[in-house]
Amino acid sequence: MALANNTNLSLALFLVLGTSMVVFTIPDDQLKETRMSVYFHDYSSGGPDSTVRAVVGFPGKSWNLAQFGTLFVSDDPITEGPDSESTPVGRGRGIFITASLDGLNTYVSFSIVFTNKAYNGSTIQIQGNGDQFTAVREYGVVSGTGKFRYANGYVTFENSSFDRSTSYAIIRCNISIRHY
Ligand SMILES: *[C@@H]1O[C@H](CO)[C@@H](O)[C@H](O)[C@H]1NC(C)=O
Ligand SMILES: *[C@@H]1O[C@H](CO)[C@@H](O)[C@H](O)[C@H]1NC(C)=O
Ligand SMILES: *[C@@H]1O[C@H](CO)[C@@H](O)[C@H](O)[C@H]1NC(C)=O
Repeated sequence: MALANNTNLSLALFLVLGTSMVVFTIPDDQLKETRMSVYFHDYSSGGPDSTVRAVVGFPGKSWNLAQFGTLFVSDDPITEGPDSESTPVGRGRGIFITASLDGLNTYVSFSIVFTNKAYNGSTIQIQGNGDQFTAVREYGVVSGTGKFRYANGYVTFENSSFDRSTSYAIIRCNISIRHY
């Protein structure tokens, strides 16, 4: 009896969904590929000018990149070239958390919020898990908005320079995405 009821329900759902579902197909030749290199300016001293800061960690442990469970928030300026005075492109806004017990791995979830003329107001969403201390860090691009709707692809990060005394890093970000 229960089986019969389920079967009837499935049939009813099929009839409802099957007749009301609208399927859009977007031809593959409308898929665009965009590649760009931009530069993040990452100030992490913990001082008032910091663009990345630890916001929470385990009580009794120091809150730092190498400590499992430390959560950071960032709002890095992004420019076209490595010079901080070069044309602004947007901001790198989001969170990352040290997500391996040995402190080597970071889980990131943040957006590039574009403010330059061509992409003003559009965003891409970067997400993933990587070894934070390797020269090249790679994460997925899982979605986007505005000019980058339906985006997917990947980004790489590599330090262009790092001044240990001021904790100021210039980080090149290569973006490779496909979108409509
Ligand atoms: C980007 O958009 C904002 C709000 O719509 C506007 O105020 C700003 O002038 C725009 N910037 C550029 C570079 O076009
Ligand atoms: C790269 O920059 C980050 C700061 O964003 C720093 O923690 C890390 O040590 C730098 N890596 C190298 C290899 O200089
Ligand atoms: C990033 O792009 C530049 C050229 O725009 C290239 O020289 C560099 O090797 C790329 N980095 C990675 C990790 O692919």
